[in-house]
Amino acid sequence: MQDKKESGTEKPWSGRFAEPVAELVKRYTASVEFDRRLAPFDIQGSLAHARMLHAVGVLSAADLAAIEKGLAAIAEEIRAGRFPWSLDLEDVHLNIEKRLTERIGDAGKRLHTGRSRNDQVATDVRLYLRSAIDDLLALIRNAQVALLDLAERHADTIMPGFTHLQVAQPVSFGHHLMAYFEMLKRDAERFADCRKRVNRLPLGAAALAGTSYPIDREMVARELGFAGVCENSLDAVSDRDFAIEFAACAALVMTHLSRLSEELILWMNPRFGFITIADRFCTGSSIMPQKKNPDVPELIRGKTGRVNGHLVALLTLMKSQPLAYNKDNQEDKEPLFDTADTLAVTLTILADMLGGITVHPEAMRAAAAQGFATATDLADYLVKKGLPFRDAHEVVARAVRHAEGRRCDLPDLPLAELQGFSDLIAADVFGVLTLEGSLKSRDHIGGTAPAQVRAAVARGRQELA
Ligand code: ARG
Repeated sequence: MQDKKESGTEKPWSGRFAEPVAELVKRYTASVEFDRRLAPFDIQGSLAHARMLHAVGVLSAADLAAIEKGLAAIAEEIRAGRFPWSLDLEDVHLNIEKRLTERIGDAGKRLHTGRSRNDQVATDVRLYLRSAIDDLLALIRNAQVALLDLAERHADTIMPGFTHLQVAQPVSFGHHLMAYFEMLKRDAERFADCRKRVNRLPLGAAALAGTSYPIDREMVARELGFAGVCENSLDAVSDRDFAIEFAACAALVMTHLSRLSEELILWMNPRFGFITIADRFCTGSSIMPQKKNPDVPELIRGKTGRVNGHLVALLTLMKSQPLAYNKDNQEDKEPLFDTADTLAVTLTILADMLGGITVHPEAMRAAAAQGFATATDLADYLVKKGLPFRDAHEVVARAVRHAEGRRCDLPDLPLAELQGFSDLIAADVFGVLTLEGSLKSRDHIGGTAPAQVRAAVARGRQELA
């Protein structure tokens, strides 16, 4: 059996222990399989820490130079896939530190002065999330642009607006799409706000209580682009609020995308026939030759469950942790990585899919013309002629029943028949009973009039500019 000391993979803390850790326990406690992804951020944090140690006189210029050179070489090894990752070395931090010492000797052993893996990992995760947020903000923006483009093309396309999934009032398809634009706008705001709390430096908290070295935390914060330092060392190493917030922001985006996906799936059903999704986003069936299934929106809906699950996992992870750092926190990484990855790929594919949608305005129009979608317009017409709204509601309800019996829509009834329900009705009623008239009359900010939809699109473009 190979001697522990000769293998070069003994853990830096093994001196305290009488026997090596059990094989299964080693695998159970190791995180390197997944946290190696933090390597670029770990190196970035180590460089800033080393430069600060030198600036305050704790690390010599020669040691700093060796560390800088060594870490640069390690970054390259990792990038090129040549880094000898070892499960024995537990996590990304110990792997990199050990390799550094292999390469540069004692200077490598000095890097960890005044630092703990507890403040180190919290720093790494924050750097990772900050970069993930910046990527996601760009992807949200792309999806917003796709919505704007489609909405602009369909400001005048009329579809039935639904409540309770029953035809309610006609709306512009562009207006409907702009509702999702608004959701994504709030999502971007939320991520930007979350970023503020992500963007604080834990380093300097050391294990939990701070350190006796004359460290300069502000310098490290500046070097890493953090807006400030975490102001309590116990909180700095144990706080994962920022991670939970990130997961919550992501869960909301996914929830929005899932709602849109649900609609795309419905609209693609032949009973609706409102849209066709480009073939490259659909799949067939191995048994039913006729099938074209909207797998992509279905998976977006499905993956929302997974991202929402990560949020619950992180909340549950925190709920019983006493101060300060606990190993439980190692479990924050996989949910976070998977959240960011899932959201990124979902946003990318959704933006692309929106660009490949074929809209069938005639099917939308036919559906809007079927459900007495302008009944409210008739009531409003009567109110404008002096009838109290409740009475108008009653008159129109009777007219709808009558039309239903005749199997036609309200604007298809002859004027004389309409007048049978109220003598306030005149020939000008057909101006409001048409789908176009209904849309056009809702001409205020937030309304569905095509002119308002175009204005909303213009505002949206300006906001994104
Ligand atoms: N791999 C650990 C994590 O992800 C790093 C911190 C370990 N700290 C400790 N004292 N064991 O949380």
